[in-house]
Amino acid sequence: MKSDNLDIDIDSIREEFPILRREAENQPLVYLDNTATSQTPSVVVDAIVDMYECHKANVHRGVHLLSREATDMQEATRRRVAAYINASPEEVIFTRGTTEAINLVAASYGSRFSEGDEVILTVMEHHADIVPWQLLQSRTGIKLRVVDIDERGVLDLEQYRSLFGPRTVMAAFCHVSNVLGTVNPVKKMIALAHEHKVPVLVDGAQASPHLSLDMKDLDCDFYAFSSHKMYGPAGVGVLYGRRELLESMPPYQGGGEMIGHVSFDGTTFADLPFKFEAGTPDFVDIAAFARCIDFIERVGMENIALHEHALLEYATERMAGIPGLRIYGTAPDKSAVISFNVGDIHNYDLGLLLDRLGVAVRTGHHCAQPLMERLGIPGTVRASFAVYNTREEVDVFVAALQKVTSMFS
Ligand code: ALA
Repeated sequence: MKSDNLDIDIDSIREEFPILRREAENQPLVYLDNTATSQTPSVVVDAIVDMYECHKANVHRGVHLLSREATDMQEATRRRVAAYINASPEEVIFTRGTTEAINLVAASYGSRFSEGDEVILTVMEHHADIVPWQLLQSRTGIKLRVVDIDERGVLDLEQYRSLFGPRTVMAAFCHVSNVLGTVNPVKKMIALAHEHKVPVLVDGAQASPHLSLDMKDLDCDFYAFSSHKMYGPAGVGVLYGRRELLESMPPYQGGGEMIGHVSFDGTTFADLPFKFEAGTPDFVDIAAFARCIDFIERVGMENIALHEHALLEYATERMAGIPGLRIYGTAPDKSAVISFNVGDIHNYDLGLLLDRLGVAVRTGHHCAQPLMERLGIPGTVRASFAVYNTREEVDVFVAALQKVTSMFS
């Protein structure tokens, strides 16, 4: 099956994802929880097996063949990621995920902040881009300033602009909201911050699976994202950091591999990127992560985005007929995420009933409790799409939603 006017064959893409062949509750699985994590193609799973079966050894720690091979594979991924995001390999720090990447910046770059300094966030942030700043706040006394949204879920850019002042030391915001799907104008927001000489951290967890990334074009200072949302293994994330900033920052954690020389009189630290990679990294999954980028480039990010957008439009249109349905997030520039409630049916009830019909969606606050408070709701149901989803799956989802909501009327 060709996707709407696109040069990709969704059936053959689906063939690459063995999990899509399984059943859920005796029905074909309809997996619409891609914003939480997306599924993984065989080529990536094979790369993990290959590392375990043929190359496994600790990286950067041995002169023997296996260690050299594993090291080469890890560092090949670093170069692959760097080229993919238009950065230098030294600017690519491997972390456990987006959350650890943001914690690294808050703890390390943030160690220069002092009482009264201000960090600008937005009301649509995931907890991963709120709590690390609050932890820093409790240590240093910084203030958090929060940008609001309008009724569509679009950021108030005038307010954002007005929040910059003499004490602003950082702006941190998501590229794409995991609840609203809003794609923020990050290039413009970065430029505005730079007019005030304020560095920016972008939480790219929800953008990296759907948008091409170019750090130089964005003129970004810090950008965080995770492999597991990009069809890759869990346990690997990337922090991109502008070289001058990373060089000026103290290590985040201490341990093996991040040192120059250690003695009880003092320790010197390794050069970038290793200064920020204490301990044995998840070299197996890092090696496999390169194959995710191969997959994305083979399918084409533009094709992925166009296909997902077509699904978003189709699903939004089909869902409109469901009595009492309310969608949260209607920004003109929106990623393939639909958060919704139906009447006063609890989101967990809807999620559980959809699950009984083989449809996997996420329910709850989506790690964005301040946004839920702003919307005046405890949570939503969320359906989110990836390249392997189909219009037929949207039909199954909408039919299931019609069935379960009619049970409450
Ligand atoms: N941040 C992920 C989500 O939105 C886990 O579901």
